[in-house]
Amino acid sequence: MKPGIIIFISVVLASCTKQVGKNPELAYSDLALLDTAKASYHTYYKNDPAIVLNAAGNSPHGSFKLRANSIAFKAMNDNGKLPVNGTFPDGSFLVKDVLLNGELELYAYMYKRSGSWLWGEVKKDGNFLYTQKNAAICTSCHNQPGHRDLVVTFNYH
Ligand code: HEC
Repeated sequence: MKPGIIIFISVVLASCTKQVGKNPELAYSDLALLDTAKASYHTYYKNDPAIVLNAAGNSPHGSFKLRANSIAFKAMNDNGKLPVNGTFPDGSFLVKDVLLNGELELYAYMYKRSGSWLWGEVKKDGNFLYTQKNAAICTSCHNQPGHRDLVVTFNYH
């Protein structure tokens, strides 16, 4: 390889690294969380991809499948539920695949960062209905009696 090319590549690599270093918040942006919501490595509620849950209580969400990343899934160790008075650890991710006529319509998700949840609701085409800025709307209802760390599925399913 010519020295010019080597210098060019090093400069590109260095500037990429700098970008990430400059803005670590990008890892927690709504778009990054959407990517996580779409990811296929999650485990379904009670480890059963066939379980479709019907909207219950005062849920505005419609019928859904619930998925969790491994951090959240490990915490749901009381017959598939988070134990009463339990807390999800940082890095926990829960996502609802909300269905319309059996087809995926939107994702509603929550991600635990530094002890609190980041929320989002987004159509499958990427249109956000709610972002983490709207957290108060989500928590005002998830804060209902019987919630476990603001998760309410366990009240009904
Ligand atoms: C008026 C009440 C209400 C509001 C507002 C609400 N939710 Fe929910 N949500 C529920 C209920 C009830 C469930 C339990 C599951 C079910 O039966 O639908 C639920 C379940 C969920 C779940 C699955 C984990 C859990 O807590 O059980 C996610 C993720 C979720 N909601 C995200 C959101 C987001 C994001 C927002 C705000 C944009 C939001 N919700 C606003 C009532 C609400």
